[in-house]
Amino acid sequence: MMMTTRRVTMAPDAEAGERGGVSLFSQGEGEPVISCRGVAKRFGGQTVLSGLDLDIMPGETMVIMGGSGSGKSTTLRMMIGSFPPSEGAIELFGRNICAMDEDELNETRKKIGILFQSGALFNSMTVAENVALPLHEHTDLDPETIDIMVKIKLELVGLREAAEKYPAQISGGMKKRAGLARALALDPKILFYDEPSAGLDPVTSAAIDQLMVDLTQKLGVASIVVTHEMDSAFTIADRMAMLHKGRMIMVDKREAYEELRDYPKDRIGELNEEQQLIRQFLRGDHEGPMTESHTQNSYEADLLGADLSKLTGGRAIQTTRRIK
Ligand SMILES: Nc1ncnc2c1ncn2[C@@H]1O[C@H](COP(=O)(O)OP(=O)(O)OP(=O)(O)O)[C@@H](O)[C@H]1O
Ligand SMILES: [Mg+2]
Repeated sequence: MMMTTRRVTMAPDAEAGERGGVSLFSQGEGEPVISCRGVAKRFGGQTVLSGLDLDIMPGETMVIMGGSGSGKSTTLRMMIGSFPPSEGAIELFGRNICAMDEDELNETRKKIGILFQSGALFNSMTVAENVALPLHEHTDLDPETIDIMVKIKLELVGLREAAEKYPAQISGGMKKRAGLARALALDPKILFYDEPSAGLDPVTSAAIDQLMVDLTQKLGVASIVVTHEMDSAFTIADRMAMLHKGRMIMVDKREAYEELRDYPKDRIGELNEEQQLIRQFLRGDHEGPMTESHTQNSYEADLLGADLSKLTGGRAIQTTRRIK
């Protein structure tokens, strides 16, 4: 069964994608719900993100990938206004987050749903009470109306029969569904998912993927998903974005990533180093530019604690086979 109607149009600058550069393109369905331009983030002296340009279009599912520490969570946190960028601008629904006062930021946050890793449910409340919470907090709706809205959300995620159960009485997959129902409570325009399949068995994980795809179709929300699960990523994504060491090295439609993943090994020399790195990441190969640069860095830092470039005349040691 095909899972979703893809609303992605082809990149006008397909070449940019092929070169592994960032290709920004509009999908022709209105203004972006999120727009990042020249965004950088520094913590103390450490630059963890730089030169980030990224648009999230209405109704699309964008999967953000990258190794541990590449800046995925930092990107998400800035997008939801948890902290400001050190440089550049982030617009939510066309308004610069940094220009918003606390009231406007709170209003804007109501249009955003966030599914945390564990579902982040309150254990002392039933599933229904958890879903009702944002409605009690952020609306003046009467309890009967809230009741009905909760039932609708639980029905959407297939959890109506568990309404009166407590989080401890339901499985991990059901907790994710409940967390999703709560994230949907205020009818958000954007949904953020942090590792939605983490800790789930493959079947439950596939069911959550299917649910995400269904919800995108039914509700037309834009979704931003951070995941390490490649099966999941390729199932749900309209577009994908790859972060590497704080830089967005490729933003393109799912099909372009599929092409890279399936690129024949004997033609790998046709790919540039970033594309090879992405190919390795997507395939989960233990050998490739990603592992080699990582090993090299840890080697320098852990064993020598010194600037190895002094020993190599300013050049980085290349263990990578460079095929050009
Ligand atoms: N509040 C903070 N203060 C200082 N450094 C931070 C802070 N938040 C993140 N960092 C640093 O920023 C870098 C990127 O972190 P981030 O959490 O965005 O990575 P990630 O891609 O989400 O990794 P993972 O896949 O492990 O979750 C890391 O080096 C991290 O130590
Ligand atoms: Mg993270």
